[in-house]
Amino acid sequence: MAIRYEIDERQIVTLTLDMEGRSANVLGRELMEPFSKAIADLEAEQALAGVILTSAKKDFLAGADIDQIFAMTEAAQVMEMAEAFKSLARRLETLGKPVVAALNGSALGGGLELALACHHRIVLSNPRIKIGLPEVKLGLLPGGGGTQRLPRMLGLKEALPLLLEGREMNPEAALQRGLVDEIAETPEAMMAAARAWIEANRHPAKPWDVKGFRWPGGDSKKPDNAQMWAIAPAMLYQKSRGNYPAAKNILSCVYEGSWVDFDTACRIESRYFTHCVVSPQAKNMITALWYQLNGIKKGGSRPSEPARQQVRKVGVLGAGMMGAGIADVAARAGIDVVLKDVTKSQAEKGKDVARAQLEKRVRRNKMTAEEREAVLARILTTDHAADLQGCDLVIEAVFEDRELKAKVTAEAEARIDEQAIFASNTSTLPITGLAKASKRPGNFIGLHFFSPVSAMPLVEIIKGEETSQETLAKAFDFVLQIRKTPIVVNDSRGFYTSRVFSTYVQEGMALLREGQHPAALEAAGLDAGMPVGPLALTDEVSLSLIHHILEQTRRDFEAEGREAPEHPADAVVYTMVDRLDRVGKKAGAGFYDYPENGAKHLWPELRKHFPQAEQQLPQAEVIERLMFIQAIETVRCMEEGVLNSVADANLGSIFGWGFPPFKGGTLQFINDYGLSEFAARAEALAARWGDRFLPPASLKEKASAGATFA
Ligand code: NAI
Repeated sequence: MAIRYEIDERQIVTLTLDMEGRSANVLGRELMEPFSKAIADLEAEQALAGVILTSAKKDFLAGADIDQIFAMTEAAQVMEMAEAFKSLARRLETLGKPVVAALNGSALGGGLELALACHHRIVLSNPRIKIGLPEVKLGLLPGGGGTQRLPRMLGLKEALPLLLEGREMNPEAALQRGLVDEIAETPEAMMAAARAWIEANRHPAKPWDVKGFRWPGGDSKKPDNAQMWAIAPAMLYQKSRGNYPAAKNILSCVYEGSWVDFDTACRIESRYFTHCVVSPQAKNMITALWYQLNGIKKGGSRPSEPARQQVRKVGVLGAGMMGAGIADVAARAGIDVVLKDVTKSQAEKGKDVARAQLEKRVRRNKMTAEEREAVLARILTTDHAADLQGCDLVIEAVFEDRELKAKVTAEAEARIDEQAIFASNTSTLPITGLAKASKRPGNFIGLHFFSPVSAMPLVEIIKGEETSQETLAKAFDFVLQIRKTPIVVNDSRGFYTSRVFSTYVQEGMALLREGQHPAALEAAGLDAGMPVGPLALTDEVSLSLIHHILEQTRRDFEAEGREAPEHPADAVVYTMVDRLDRVGKKAGAGFYDYPENGAKHLWPELRKHFPQAEQQLPQAEVIERLMFIQAIETVRCMEEGVLNSVADANLGSIFGWGFPPFKGGTLQFINDYGLSEFAARAEALAARWGDRFLPPASLKEKASAGATFA
């Protein structure tokens, strides 16, 4: 039994969603039949006073059954399912009796859509509860009437961002936005409030079911937003470059739906929903951001032993940009933090950065002032290594300097327990080398955070040659504890993320050197779905840093008696840094100019130093090169054992440097292309542009075996 049906002496029926054998209620075939039967029973009830819809699970209704959505490839099948659910919700909405949603837990996606079909929504006060329509984040759209009810309830201006951004809100924010009507302190108070509302509203009807319905925010029968409709598609295009059909479909169905009656509008929505469900973009986003991500959260590349554990106290060495961010996220996860720098005032400065981050959260209603104070109270600032005593984990984020890192490692290890682990947040130095400074190299590991720490979801865990499985497990648990996504890689120059990401910026510079128009190649990066063009990204990373890494690599190779590999981009880096003194964004001058009060723009003199070729490559080929090079380097990382899992590769690329989610990650990009076709095309690119495009042997083997990166 998935739905309990109980009627009380006041003739109020409580429908309780409680799907058997599942930890959460999900909207799918299993629920449809009992739901349909319950509604038929309600319709047959002679003296029905009203209905309360609630759940016996932790959450109200977690949304659509993703397994079913993912498996659907036939448009007709999707259409039928969407229409069936909508007609049930509609019958509830037009029952003629008050229906109240009592949201005892999160109501996301289809869960919220069902609640929107009710006449009144009461939610339990609990910061854990999330309310929202996040479908767009998986390349889908709310197909249960959400794109039609929300704009009719809130007006277009309020509703569109909620639909297009898929933001999830806590109960207070949901109340403020008008997604729910009331907040109750306890489950009993919630049920009592539901009954009271039913008693006071005997025959409610939705505004759009009442003659003369007017849209919120306008006094006409149609939403009066001509101006917004004129600019919204352009704004959307600027953001997504047409790569995300879900967002465009949301806009289309809200627009088309606004011209017709509610029921017709719902059918329009089903049609657009169908487009989304069967689209390759949605399948890729679901694969990466649902299946692969959940796989990582359940353990991913973590060794199965020992059992999961929690860090209680973490030491952070260096309260600079990275250290301050790490302290902030750890303290927010409830962990005690010892933030150490060379002076107490330096450490305090780092805490101030965390304070500013927390302040932002308070302003955005994501945290209360008391919570902020509790988090800050967990951060102890110091300049004494002795305060590290009792830490289960110490993370160093001091300057990128081998000797300094060795010094702080020894200093910390003298104060912490034998079983405590030590992690380096180095961005470039091999972990195995750094571990040589440790007395307990088995307990030494890399934890590579990304900047800004509070916003970036990924942490790359780097195993040194001697890192123990136990240390790896602890580090993995810590990353999950601070609510980030861990991927596990083996030590290598640039690890995985920096190594592959740098192929993108290098390819951009190689194209510039060949004489491609810089604006065109920047546009190619964006059209491909990358968040930033390759030259702008190089400026952000800083050309001086790349220059420094080039020099360091050359010295390292020389020390080993080998010749460092050369890349056509190297000459561009040397020209920019040594000859032109344009080192990047921080210095206000790189490939771009950064005027103090104005937007950045490409440096006009670029064409003097990198003359344009008469014959420009077609944009499609530029895009192809920018994407292929990342995918090929990822395969090399798999082949060399730097990466062990497809999920780590795909999510590392999406969360680490913004590889387009709609493409599903660097390896899924190859799957979509077809392995044989990809290998053949890579050969052709290699023949023309250099060996860096040569398909790795393992790729060709996989292709001839008919396998994929699954
Ligand atoms: P930063 O220059 O902002 O901060 C370094 C801090 O370390 C300074 O506050 C300094 O006073 C402190 N420090 C120096 N010696 C110390 C000692 N003996 N004990 C305690 N603290 C000491 O540097 P940032 O950007 O935070 O980088 C730190 C580390 O993180 C570097 O290894 C860097 O390569 C790595 N990293 C940086 C990323 C970035 O985007 N900036 C990204 C990922 C890693």
